[in-house]
Amino acid sequence: MASKLSAAATLLAVVLAIDATVFTDILEWKPSAGLDPYPVAFKQLATDVYRQGYDWHLPNGQVGDVHVYLIKLGEDYVLVDVGAPTADYEQIPSSGLRQALQNGRLRLITLTHGHFDHVGALVSLMKEYPDVQVLFHEAEAPFLTGESGDISDAKGLSVQKPAWAAPRGSISFHRGHGHAPGHVSYLHKPSLSLIADDIFNNEGQPPQIRLPPEVFTPNVTEAELSLKKIAQLDFVKAFCGHDRAEGVTREALQQYFKIL
Ligand SMILES: *[C@@H]1O[C@H](CO)[C@@H](O)[C@H](O)[C@H]1NC(C)=O
Ligand SMILES: [Zn+2]
Repeated sequence: MASKLSAAATLLAVVLAIDATVFTDILEWKPSAGLDPYPVAFKQLATDVYRQGYDWHLPNGQVGDVHVYLIKLGEDYVLVDVGAPTADYEQIPSSGLRQALQNGRLRLITLTHGHFDHVGALVSLMKEYPDVQVLFHEAEAPFLTGESGDISDAKGLSVQKPAWAAPRGSISFHRGHGHAPGHVSYLHKPSLSLIADDIFNNEGQPPQIRLPPEVFTPNVTEAELSLKKIAQLDFVKAFCGHDRAEGVTREALQQYFKIL
């Protein structure tokens, strides 16, 4: 367990170091004014799919929103992403989980990609849940391999099969390109909920579907192709990491391409 944790810490350090070369101020920032009273509760979006969202205050005064998703598989839970870095934000998923898990067990933390606003609480949650397995795509870190597949085939942090595998057919992963090397979206098959994450954004007033911001997206052409591909999956609603609404329908996502 200690070695698993140190492997995660090393990996996180590498991921954060890449971001930190550009975003040191964010990673070292401590909000001086009190944080907003965040609604820590996970809210239900679909059968067995929950989401926690909060405002993330950046040192430059901007406010973004960040979402963390939780999928219930019987008595077991899978967390998708862990939110923004620094202790103040890391405690939000931690508090939310304490309420949400009830008698169930957190089995997996699956990450959509390694950007700092998605992996912030990784190490602190691994300390709190020592048995939890962590999955990334191998292009972010070597756990999920290939273009798509079933997460029950994934290998864990130790690059061995996790001790607990999600029931086959419950969640599939789908690779996206352009925004991060190994970005994956997760499809919860029973409810046809797609946790697309940073394949698109849905921010603004009113919220509008957009590609992720160019500044964080090394290849916009690939990002656009990925959104087009993901929009073809069989889902009822797609949810993203930065979403002012409660997801978008498949029709709305496909409509986005008609106006490009
Ligand atoms: C972006 O991706 C496209 C399609 O894969 C590729 O042709 C192009 O060279 C890439 N551009 C950059 C700047 O990497
Ligand atoms: Zn991102």
